[in-house]
Amino acid sequence: MTRNKVTVIGAGNVGATAAQRIAEAGLADVVLIDIVEGLPQGKGLDLAEAAPVLPHDARVIGTNDYAETAGSDVVVVTSGIARKPGMSRDELMATNAGIVRSVVQAAVRHSPDSILVIVTNPLDAMCHVAMQASGFPRERVIGMAGVLDSARFRAFIAMELGVSVEDTHAFVLGGHGDTMVPLPRYSTVAGIPITELMTPERVQALVERTANGGAEIVALLKTGSAYYAPAAATFEMVESILQDRKRVLPCATYGVDGLFVGVPVVLGARGMERVIEIKLSADERAAFERSAGAVRDLVGKLDELAAAAAS
Ligand SMILES: NC(=O)c1ccc[n+]([C@@H]2O[C@H](COP(=O)([O-])OP(=O)(O)OC[C@H]3O[C@@H](n4cnc5c(N)ncnc54)[C@H](O)[C@@H]3O)[C@@H](O)[C@H]2O)c1
Repeated sequence: MTRNKVTVIGAGNVGATAAQRIAEAGLADVVLIDIVEGLPQGKGLDLAEAAPVLPHDARVIGTNDYAETAGSDVVVVTSGIARKPGMSRDELMATNAGIVRSVVQAAVRHSPDSILVIVTNPLDAMCHVAMQASGFPRERVIGMAGVLDSARFRAFIAMELGVSVEDTHAFVLGGHGDTMVPLPRYSTVAGIPITELMTPERVQALVERTANGGAEIVALLKTGSAYYAPAAATFEMVESILQDRKRVLPCATYGVDGLFVGVPVVLGARGMERVIEIKLSADERAAFERSAGAVRDLVGKLDELAAAAAS
């Protein structure tokens, strides 16, 4: 039996940390690829040299050549640039859309049967670009956001109640960012909804902290953004796919009105195998639709930028 193969595009903080987790778990051989010469080779070699100590037998290499990624089962896309001073959100989106388009085209040429896990921000729009660039069906283009957002919510619930993170479950739907929709009713500690364990004010405080989870870390770090939790969330998705675990995880998936929006899905060997439909209250539905509206605006902006670039 051969080991699975995962390509991680972008050897930056999230990409390299995800590569480390995948290799250390012995889940798959990993190819780390970046546009910067030497960076993926250096990190790949460093990871390979850690293998005897840990130990694991996964092969890790770094490269700038897509030929080395051939035959990957999963391709994780983390390549992109961070917003620079003076750069508008639109400029960032146009730049990252160009990067995601080009890397996805190159990767799928060599791995036509792969499953794409998209991480680059703005997440929901980048999923759109990846689906167009790959020509893959919706089952094989999945965005990482909800697993991270719900991990943050779970961590805050556990801190608040002084209980193990293992016994917390949380549900976060919708787009990635300010409009995400944490669902306290479906968020539980050992099966008990958190609405029965905390005051509405405390629930609301944790919901707001979750929605600002990325910004809270950026403010602390001053340069760069979160990567340990994003890499762990990416690993959980890749593991569920490669081991056909059928985990039910909140992921950005193509569906609602032709948009990528976070919903609970079953992740298995075929990728996004099924969406789990849940009943929403009127308020929750309104929040979900607001969130989908924000994603729609983002994708509309993306189309405008593409049209402007083409004219
Ligand atoms: N979806 C989420 O929840 C989530 C969470 C965290 C980070 N992110 C996003 O993930 C992305 C990566 O974050 P990071 O902290 O690792 O950033 P980073 O700057 O550390 O790494 C990005 C890497 O991409 C590489 N890159 C740029 N253009 C490339 C190209 N054309 N081909 C190959 N590689 C290229 C860069 O050289 C760099 O090494 C960002 O867009 C970030 O916003 C998303």
